[in-house]
Amino acid sequence: MAATKRLFIETVGCQMNVLDSELVVAALRRQGWDMTATMSDADAVFFNTCSVRQHAEDKIYSALGRVRKQKEKLPGLIVGVLGCMAQKDQEMIRARAPWVDLVVGPGQLHRVPSLIDLIQAGSGPQIEVSLDRKAGSRLEVVDSFESYDPDRDSTMRPTPFQAFVRTQTGCDKFCAFCVVPRVRGPEQARPPQAIIAEAEKLVAEGCKEITLIGQTVNSYKWSDGGKTSRLSDLLLELNKIDGLERIKFLTSYPRDMTDDLIHAVRDLPKVSHYLHVPAQHGSDDVLKRMKRGYTIGQYMEMLDRLRVAIPHAALSSDFIVGFCGETDEEFALSLELMKTVKFKNSFIFKYSPRPGTKAFDTQLDDVPESVKKERNRLLQEAQSVASLEGNRRFVGSRQQVLVEGLSTREERRAVNPGPDGFAQLTGRTMCDRIVVFDAPLRLIGRMVDIDITSAGSWSLAGEVADGLADAVPLDYLEKQNPAVHQIKVPVPSVSRAVQR
Ligand code: SAH
Ligand code: F3S
Repeated sequence: MAATKRLFIETVGCQMNVLDSELVVAALRRQGWDMTATMSDADAVFFNTCSVRQHAEDKIYSALGRVRKQKEKLPGLIVGVLGCMAQKDQEMIRARAPWVDLVVGPGQLHRVPSLIDLIQAGSGPQIEVSLDRKAGSRLEVVDSFESYDPDRDSTMRPTPFQAFVRTQTGCDKFCAFCVVPRVRGPEQARPPQAIIAEAEKLVAEGCKEITLIGQTVNSYKWSDGGKTSRLSDLLLELNKIDGLERIKFLTSYPRDMTDDLIHAVRDLPKVSHYLHVPAQHGSDDVLKRMKRGYTIGQYMEMLDRLRVAIPHAALSSDFIVGFCGETDEEFALSLELMKTVKFKNSFIFKYSPRPGTKAFDTQLDDVPESVKKERNRLLQEAQSVASLEGNRRFVGSRQQVLVEGLSTREERRAVNPGPDGFAQLTGRTMCDRIVVFDAPLRLIGRMVDIDITSAGSWSLAGEVADGLADAVPLDYLEKQNPAVHQIKVPVPSVSRAVQR
């Protein structure tokens, strides 16, 4: 029998990429591939890539440079670039790194197994990408971005108790700075029945928390036979699934935060009162140049509706600093917005011009890097203050936490204390706040009550509430599949997954 082939895959970018990698890995496992955590052991080295900022691309090109030597020694090694960068750079990837064998865009991932067969059969390098957005009619472009949601394989999920479920692919908003509509294609919703069925299957297999993902998840809309389903309808159906405990969704687009959705979040007990609704900027003029489609007045009106319905809802945001033409006065408005809203947390990015976007073509990237850096620092600082203030309100309270795994400190230590040993663990509250506490490893994957004893700007710390630690059966480790652990999956939450 031929030896099993080993795949090394590195995933960068957003939750979509994490899910795509899970699905590609599952497809290849079915073809007899195994996973390896060491690149030098691999028969195939894949990068699932991100194009949102230049930095993310630079890192992949330098990783490709490192693979070159391995490929020279082992000509049979298959080097693959998947995802957004593959769609954006296409042939250019092979022009810069001719040792790459496989270039596959996010709309063609279903083809990966057969393309590998072609390479192994000696057909040479394979490039499979979707049409550029202007290269055909909308229908032709839509058809070229094939949805990739095959049956999930329970043994392939990185954590048995959490999962991402896709509601739609692509984006039609075309914010001036953003390359996503180009590389992920037109917005295409999945039928509600498919989403619900996938969730039911995941829950039957032990999943407790589902995070619905879409670039603008709250724009979800599916029309069939005169009936239209929106995100609020999906939440209503998901909330009925026995055994499912938490439902989250990201990312929300401010203009599509409609009352039906806000009321669904308020009324459905399993839906987390946590919303990631990026504001991007505090100045109307900049928002206009960004083509975001709303003013700060409209953003605040949305927020008012939310706060009236759900006073304690946790809100998080993304901000871009140093966008084309951003003045000191304009930047000050972002700071002001952050101080007024007091987001739970924010992801702050320095503007990175992206070829193929409106801003790249028509606006000057004229804010010096040093100014971008300083504005980034100032906004981070303001967010830390707001986060700390928000977190302090929880000290002295008891919170239900879904235990997710070892804390970063323990991961670094890399000592496995065994299921009954105590370690520093981390989990999240219903509102997505990170909690750190000492507990036996067997609590991973469980809902546990934690008494919060202190707060920092990044996380809360606490102690397992009396008695609970002993009452939990030991089944987490049996369900774990170490083979898939090198898909560097954080947790289905924006807080870590969006950091690029
Ligand atoms: N809707 C998507 C957003 C994709 S990009 C989602 O699911 O999260 C994520 C964030 O990256 C954006 O909200 C924006 O703040 C930031 N971003 C996008 N393009 C950028 C660019 N060219 N430069 C800097 N930051 C960017
Ligand atoms: Fe990008 Fe704007 Fe869509 S940020 S993903 S174009 S909503």
